[in-house]
Amino acid sequence: MNKKLTISRAGAVLSILALSLTLQGCRGMKSEKTPIHPNMNMDQQERKEAQEVNNFFEDGRSMRTPVEGTVARGLSRLDKAYYEGIDENGEWIADMPIDLTKSIVYRGKERYEVFCTPCHGNAGDGLGIIMTGQYGYVPAPTFHQDRLREAPDGEIYSAIYNGVRNMPSYRHQVPVDDRWAIVAYVRALQASQNASREDLIAAGVDVEALEAEYNEEQAAIAEAKAAKEASQGEIVATVERGMEVSTMYACQTCHSSDGSAVIGPSWKNLYGSEGLVTTEDGETITVVKEDEYLIESIVNPYAKIVDGYDPLMADAYGGLSQSDLQSLVEYIKSLSDN
Ligand code: HEC
Ligand code: HEC
Repeated sequence: MNKKLTISRAGAVLSILALSLTLQGCRGMKSEKTPIHPNMNMDQQERKEAQEVNNFFEDGRSMRTPVEGTVARGLSRLDKAYYEGIDENGEWIADMPIDLTKSIVYRGKERYEVFCTPCHGNAGDGLGIIMTGQYGYVPAPTFHQDRLREAPDGEIYSAIYNGVRNMPSYRHQVPVDDRWAIVAYVRALQASQNASREDLIAAGVDVEALEAEYNEEQAAIAEAKAAKEASQGEIVATVERGMEVSTMYACQTCHSSDGSAVIGPSWKNLYGSEGLVTTEDGETITVVKEDEYLIESIVNPYAKIVDGYDPLMADAYGGLSQSDLQSLVEYIKSLSDN
């Protein structure tokens, strides 16, 4: 063994240790000194902060607007049909401006189920999970009504893009391509819920079995309803309960109590008044707005449409108990001087 070699090896180990400690010493430690920055590249240049004054320009602003007539890459929105669902006159376009494929419809289904089912329901019938009354949200209408079947594609698109009355816009959650995919799927839902007997037979469906199933279902619903009514016993109706139900179902979003028209007619002085309505057969008649008419307006809103208004009230209140319906009537009555 050579003694000299051992010493120099120990020295080497020590000096490596010392060197690594020196280099690591700076990490995580604060220093007031400017760091050594041997190669500047373009790391530091003169520049203006946001909102900073810049006397170079006449208006003194350093933040400049884009040169007139220019569009930043990726921000072109010239194709109004595609981006907004409208034509050059601002009218909703009748047909979607995309080439429809099966995969687009499936994409629409998937997106619809994410964004629309909580309110509109899986089948588009307006029976989404938040429509149970306990959340105080305005019910979403069913898509399976003539008004929305006949609506142009651009109008369905607009509901997603702009929102509509009480429905918020979903433009930030749903990008353009997906909006059209959802429109395609809403159309598919509408067609699927509006098939004729012949369509079903042509598609190989056992119509008789389906009808039997439907009738059974309807009988069960009617039975449950009758049982519920029978178990309710006496009708207890109060103005306070009426106000409560009205709040629970967010009726005030469309009906004011101060005489101003919102989306629907005001409830002020409604009770006992006379007015024109259009029946389902298209007949215009005069009605006296008392208990029977008011209850029908709530449980079957499409039966008679108030003159001057659109049929925008959802058919969503059929499940209210007799006591709650009568309470609503009492509340509406309390808003009347008649
Ligand atoms: C938070 C609940 C909610 C969600 C989620 C929702 N909607 Fe709605 N939607 C409503 C309500 C409420 C209305 C009725 C608004 C009114 O009449 O005041 C409505 C109305 C509509 C209408 C009818 C428009 C008209 O002209 O009457 C369409 C179409 C529609 N929604 C499509 C969609 C689509 C597609 C989605 C998914 C991207 C969606 N909605 C998501 C609540 C919702
Ligand atoms: C999305 C808006 C909307 C909501 C929510 C709504 N309604 Fe309506 N309602 C209307 C519109 C629009 C009309 C007028 C058109 C028609 O006859 O359907 C109307 C009509 C009525 C009428 C008949 C009024 C008249 O002048 O003859 C009554 C009564 C009524 N609503 C009660 C209610 C009650 C009770 C609730 C809550 C449980 C409710 N509405 C929720 C929009 C709404």
